[in-house]
This record gives sequence, structure tokens and C-alpha cells, in this order.
Amino acid sequence: MTAAALDRSPAPSRRRRLAGVRRTAAPGRLVTALAVLVPVALLALGALPLTPAALVAFLAPAGALLAGTRHSRRQAALIARLERERAVLLDQVRSRADELDRASRIMAARARTMTSVIDAVTEQSIIGTDPDGTIRVWNPGAEKLLGLPRADVVRRRSILEFHLAEELEEAADAQGTAVGLHALVRAAQENGSDVRDWTYVAADGRQRTVAVAITPRTDDRGVHAGWNFVGTDMTEVRATERMKDQFVSLVSHELRTPLTSILGYLELVLDDEQSLTDEQRRYLGTVERNADRLLRLVGDLLFTARVDAGQLTLQPEPVDLVAVVRAAEETARVAATAGGVELRVEAPDGALVISGDPMRLGQACDNLVSNAVKFTPSGGSVTLTVGTGWRAADGTVTADERPGAAPVARLSVRDTGIGIPDDEQGKLFTRFFRASTAQRNAVPGVGLGLSITKAITTAHGGTLDLESAEGRGTTFTLTLPRGA
Ligand SMILES: Nc1ncnc2c1ncn2[C@@H]1O[C@H](COP(=O)(O)OP(=O)(O)OP(=O)(O)O)[C@@H](O)[C@H]1O
Ligand SMILES: [Mg+2]
Repeated sequence: MTAAALDRSPAPSRRRRLAGVRRTAAPGRLVTALAVLVPVALLALGALPLTPAALVAFLAPAGALLAGTRHSRRQAALIARLERERAVLLDQVRSRADELDRASRIMAARARTMTSVIDAVTEQSIIGTDPDGTIRVWNPGAEKLLGLPRADVVRRRSILEFHLAEELEEAADAQGTAVGLHALVRAAQENGSDVRDWTYVAADGRQRTVAVAITPRTDDRGVHAGWNFVGTDMTEVRATERMKDQFVSLVSHELRTPLTSILGYLELVLDDEQSLTDEQRRYLGTVERNADRLLRLVGDLLFTARVDAGQLTLQPEPVDLVAVVRAAEETARVAATAGGVELRVEAPDGALVISGDPMRLGQACDNLVSNAVKFTPSGGSVTLTVGTGWRAADGTVTADERPGAAPVARLSVRDTGIGIPDDEQGKLFTRFFRASTAQRNAVPGVGLGLSITKAITTAHGGTLDLESAEGRGTTFTLTLPRGA
């Protein structure tokens, strides 16, 4: 009922009350008026003598009339109060109705804005589904990417129909779940959102690599209402990335062969003690150093390309970490001496054997030690430590065995060098990143060593941690699983 209608028709109970008041008031007043007017008329006409009895007869109805008037006033006040209450109620109803009207207009405007924003997105597919995967929202971006108009899809198809079946099976296998929507949304369900590449299959059978952000959707009461899939077509980007990796890998490979040959012949020439003058030997020494550097860089690039292509394969065998550390010390000794840096090893007397790829672990350790030496000014020191420990589920490592903890081996490289600013430490394992301290001090490097060390550590199931204070020094710790 509208406010105006309410205004016209008071509530039934109140209507009855008002009518009752009016009904009882009217005849009462008439009787009292007659009781006063009749004696007055009789007195005037002389039909009634002015005796005490006649006075009583006259005053009694007059008193009654006065009492009746008081009663009527009360009734009138009651009516006025009820009218006022009714007006207040009507006001309230009217303002509630206005509020409701305003709220529903705002809601409708919001919904229109949302729809127009979603409809304006043509380069991203926005697909919304029910909890069971039935499509409810399908924007022009989805139409463009998957080649079907909204009318053919909404309420008629499941999101699963646009995914590559084999990929869904793989995901289900990897997660140990049944093939279906669950395999698609499980990570989003567990983490609140999930972004990864999926293969969409368009209406004409074309496959597209799409970076899909999946998020759960809730209704206004917070109840799970379905899923949102926002996709960006990455088909061309991924193809270019693959090409770049192949190019880097090819170039590095092709450069390595002639470089190895140059270095081999240089060594032969330098080995000949007699035929070279001191000056020639110095020049060739510079050539050899630079060729070595070039070879290392090419090796790093090749390694990086392999990691990107998922081709980092380990050849595990028993490795003695004490031997790895001593070999790294040996390699770094010349640079340390030249830079005035003291190099120390703290290791157990015997061997500390784990299962790993000796060549790769040597490379990881060399990278850490060479960094420590080159980022430590003259007069500082670098300490290589190797030992065992126990890692609990929360990642903390202790020297003594604890229930539920896994045995690990730890290899740390501690220096008293320039350090790394706090706010840059998070980016350190990113390829080509070099800290501001390194750049300020003009220490040469490309920024690949640490990312390589990290990749090797991860491939071994280990972790690489860092502690550093600017101007005071840095410690890198490699923690690797060890058979009990
Ligand atoms: N021990 C250290 N002390 C201070 N800074 C360090 C240390 N180790 C690494 N860094 C910082 O981390 C950056 C990345 O290290 P990374 O080994 O990847 O590259 P790089 O040594 O500069 O070059 P590359 O190893 O490729 O020759 C360094 O440039 C430096 O800023
Ligand atoms: Mg380095």
C-alpha cells in the first residue's frame, strides 16, 4: 500500500475507534441540550413557577450539559491526539517508502554501472558461473576470445566446456581430485584466488593460452554464489617468451664452442715458457681472463634458459659437502688474496655426505663465495661453514634432533662486507637484479649468480636464506635435505 493510499484509509481498528467516539458523542449532547432548553422555555412562558424545585429542575440538566461538554472536550482531545499520531505514522511510512525507493534506484544504478564496465572490457574475458560451473556472466571479451555470443552460453553451458579436457585431467591427477570443476577451482578455494595459465578451447576448436584469475563469488549475505574467471589471452606472449629462451639457449650454446677453443689454444701458448716476452704474456693473461669471464657468462645464460624451459636436470650421487666447501675456498683464494680478504673454513673433520649433483652444488657454493669475496672490502673476512641440523615443519633449524624434525645439512657463507639494504633483500633472487650497494661500490657483475644458486637449491629440495645488514655484512645459508 502506498503512503497516499494509507493517508486515505486509516487502519481499520483506528477507524472503528474514531467512529465509536463520534456515535456516542452526538445523541448524548442532544439529550442534555433538550433537558436544559425545555425548563428554560417553560420558565419563560410562565408555565413553570420560579420555585426552589423548579430551580433544581433547571440547574440539574445545566450541570449535566456542562459535564457533557467536558466529556465531549475529552473526546475531541482524544480524536485530535489520534489524528496527530496518525499523521506521524503516515510521515514515517512516507519517508520509509522514499528511502526504499532511493535505495532500489541506487542498487539499479550500481548494477547498470557494473554491467556497463563488464561490457566495456573487450580484451579480457570475464566469465561468472554458479557454484556448479554453469555460466551466468559472459562479457564481450569472452565472446571475442571464445567465439560465442552471450545468448548461446548463459545458463546453457558450463565453464568446463571451454577448457582443454587433458589439462583438467592433469590438474585433477596432480591434486588427487576428481576431474571436474573442483580441479579447476581448488587452488582459488584454498587461497582465496588463483592465477595461472589454462588452455581455453574456442567454439571453432582453436586453443588459446590464457592467464586466468579465478576468485570465488559471494552473494550479499556472504553465501558462496559461484566463481569468477577473468582471463587474459597470453598465446602470443608465451610463444614470444619461448622463442626468446630458445634464442638465448642457442646463442649461448653456439658461443660456448668457439670460446672453449680460444681458451684451449691460449693455454697452450701460455704454457710455452720460452717463446713469449713478459709483455706478451701479460696481454695474453688479460685475454684469458676476459675469455674466462665470457665463458662463465655464456654458461650462466645457458643455465638460466634451461631453468626457464624446465630442463634443469640433476645427476644425483653422494656428495661430500665438506669437499665442496674446500673446493670453493680454493677457487676463491686468488681473488680473496688480491682483494685483501681473509678466507676461513669451519667444517667437521670427516665428510658430510648428502645426495645431490656435485657439479651443480659446487656451482651454487662458488657463486656464494665469489659474491662474498667481491662484496667485502679489503681487511674484511669471509667464513665458510658447513654442518648438520634438524628442520622442523615451521622451517626453523636447530643443531639437536627434535621429534618430527627432518635432518638437514647447512652450508653458510658469512662476510663482513657492504651488505644489502633491507628493502632490496626481497628482490635479490630475481634475475639481473643488483643491489644499490653493489652499484654504488662499482662491483662488477651481471646479476645472474644468485638466481642460479636459488634454482639449484630448489631443485635439490633445499632453501636459500639470507641475513644482511648494510655496511656490516651478509650471510647466505643453504639448507639441504640429508638422509637420517
Ligand atoms: N655477499 C654479498 N654482499 C653484498 N651484496 C651481495 C652479496 N651477494 C649478493 N649481493 C647482491 O646481490 C646482487 C645479485 O647477486 P648475483 O650473484 O646474482 O649477481 P652479481 O654477483 O652482481 O653478478 P654475477 O653473479 O651474475 O656475476 C649483487 O649484485 C649484489 O648487489
Ligand atoms: Mg654473483
